[in-house]
Amino acid sequence: MLFKQQALLRQKLFVLGSLAIGSLLYLVARVGSLDRLQPLCPIDGRFGPRGQDEIPLRALQFKRGLLHEFRKGNATKEQVRLHNLVQQLPKAIIIGVRKGGTRALLEMLNLHPAVVKASQEIHFFDNDENYAKGIEWYRKKMPFSYPHQITIEKSPAYFITEEVPERIYKMNSSIKLLIIVREPTTRAISDYTQVLEGKERKNKTYYKFEKLAIDPNTCEVNTKYKAVRTSIYTKHLERWLKYFPIEQFHIVDGDRLITEPLPELQLVEKFLNLPPRISQYNLYFNATRGFYCLRFNIVFNKCLAGSKGRIHPEVDTSVINKLRKFFHPFNQKFYQITGRTFNWP
Ligand code: A3P
Repeated sequence: MLFKQQALLRQKLFVLGSLAIGSLLYLVARVGSLDRLQPLCPIDGRFGPRGQDEIPLRALQFKRGLLHEFRKGNATKEQVRLHNLVQQLPKAIIIGVRKGGTRALLEMLNLHPAVVKASQEIHFFDNDENYAKGIEWYRKKMPFSYPHQITIEKSPAYFITEEVPERIYKMNSSIKLLIIVREPTTRAISDYTQVLEGKERKNKTYYKFEKLAIDPNTCEVNTKYKAVRTSIYTKHLERWLKYFPIEQFHIVDGDRLITEPLPELQLVEKFLNLPPRISQYNLYFNATRGFYCLRFNIVFNKCLAGSKGRIHPEVDTSVINKLRKFFHPFNQKFYQITGRTFNWP
């Protein structure tokens, strides 16, 4: 009998304990998000008079994943109406460069309460089949957002695809364009590493980087190799400048985004006319990953996928030097056009 009573008491204590812990966790989560929300919202200044145009507090909850179904496009019509949600065409696009850090840039900008990201690369402007589906198809691919938020998408293939500048211009001639670049040789090796990994996954063999980057007949840099061509930033940018003035572009230093992301993000906030809301709190260095990761609040944080930040194969120093020498004049031109200088060799 006594044993039965003790067991019952233990059971009651367990239930009460679980409830207490559950409530505590809920409170911690609430306080965490409120902590983060109070200084963020409403957003002042450029968004119009306070109260009228403020970004609803719920904005950040989307980013925490609570209503992520909406963002995946699974909201019911009633939910969309109730929350005044819309699918907006992007006001800014990360057009490239592949392996420059485009994913990191998009995810980090998404920390801003006024920014909503299109999670997938849409490939609307570079893919003829998609483009033929029309602008409404593109808009429907965008996440749900509040009217005062801005949508950003990234498709790095846009930067190097011939038809894209004209197509984007036709959609919105005053759109803001973000280009994230890295030291061109490092970017080319990163590009190669990604392709190599794909081949290895399929149990296929692949050439060494040296063999692809240097023409064996001339012993000069192989400009037919895509990873090399993509790194000639100025050539691609010049095509874009036939449609957009340079003021509509912002160049992000992808090497600095790796080591010191905040100042780079603050420059982007300025370019997008957003009030500064991303802080050091939102970015923490993860020693295991060797990269900065994202903190939305005390309960929700994330690092980029393992496919970002691969170990590059070792490349012959003479090949690296040859490539650096090759890129040098193009880099000078790029600095001149963009007004942003990098310490690239
Ligand atoms: P590596 O894999 O060569 O290191 P993209 O998203 O355009 O494909 O770019 C991938 C690159 O983003 C990675 O190249 C990595 O160096 C860089 N990167 C920048 N910030 C990062 C971060 N916080 N976490 C992971 N990778 C990051």
